[in-house]
Amino acid sequence: MTTKPFKIGNIELDNRVVVAPMAGISNSAFRLTVKEFGAGLVYAEMISDKGIIQRNRNTMNLLHIDEREYPLALQIFGGEKETLVEAAQYVDQQTNADMIDINMGCPVNKIIKCEAGAKWLLNPDKIYEMVSAVTEAVEKPVSVKMRIGWDEEHIFAVENALAAEKAGASAIAMHGRTRVQMYEGKANWDVLRQVSEKITIPFIGNGDVATPMDAKRMLEETGVDAVMIGRAALGNPWMIYQTVRYLETGEFVEEPSPIEKIDVCLLHFNRLMALKGERVAVREMRKHTAWYLKGIKGSGPIRSAVNETETKEQLTNLLQGFQQELAERQQTTI
Ligand SMILES: Cc1cc2nc3c(=O)[nH]c(=O)nc-3n(C[C@H](O)[C@H](O)[C@H](O)COP(=O)(O)O)c2cc1C
Repeated sequence: MTTKPFKIGNIELDNRVVVAPMAGISNSAFRLTVKEFGAGLVYAEMISDKGIIQRNRNTMNLLHIDEREYPLALQIFGGEKETLVEAAQYVDQQTNADMIDINMGCPVNKIIKCEAGAKWLLNPDKIYEMVSAVTEAVEKPVSVKMRIGWDEEHIFAVENALAAEKAGASAIAMHGRTRVQMYEGKANWDVLRQVSEKITIPFIGNGDVATPMDAKRMLEETGVDAVMIGRAALGNPWMIYQTVRYLETGEFVEEPSPIEKIDVCLLHFNRLMALKGERVAVREMRKHTAWYLKGIKGSGPIRSAVNETETKEQLTNLLQGFQQELAERQQTTI
């Protein structure tokens, strides 16, 4: 059951492994990389409705989608109906995203203050009103991504999900934490189960899927239709492939060798260069490189040195030099 393709609106997904939206990370360089490792659906990072309406240059750059990423959900956030609808219409008509996702989970103060993100979780009526306004105004399927609630005392997960469903949402993704939890503590899968028992549209569970085994367990224990993976894919995109294969066959595929991992890191870097240019790409790639190198024996000094790199040449040389060192190490241990 868990391995069958499934549909969101008119979009056919090849499998039930979805990569989460992550601000500052989920640009097309990252998405394309996880897509190549088999993701059934990728989400773009959250984009401000007002930024779209004002055609802010940085915001418009976030709308870049490579056609190899399909299917893709583009996520917008906002606190007012008019601007949210206008931005959704822009995404609907002017971008090649397959799906429009509304952010109802972002916990940070800057967003909450604008009545956006997780703020809606306190008010199922507002969810109904806002989601209805968007679904009525666009052609593309609309999904929402929410948290289970605001805090322990205000977990309206079932009411909120039903409100979104009634308002015409084609899918819901839910992170099993409250707003107050931020990223701390454990994701509450019991609440995910309660929601999956109540809604009929595709339901994507999220939170604390760190391994392929976790993904299987979430599908089995909560009855969600698909799993969404965020942090576990950072510097670890092959984890997506391992999860897809594990769900399909029960077989655990070995992870790539350290040298192969660095090849993927370099590929990601080159994509980021093409997308953002050298200065920004090198800076952004520092954190990714540290994630890619995590767990590789002897990578400590390289991970520190990465933070000092400023140019493509420096970063590439550092990584290729380390590959060389790893290859030599292999030779001496054979
Ligand atoms: C760095 C970072 C950025 C995030 N940005 C977004 C975002 O733009 N939109 C969103 O809906 N969730 C965002 N999230 C939340 C993730 O999509 C996901 O719900 C959360 O990380 C829990 O899943 P995980 O345990 O698999 O990481 C972000 C999370 C992280 C760690």
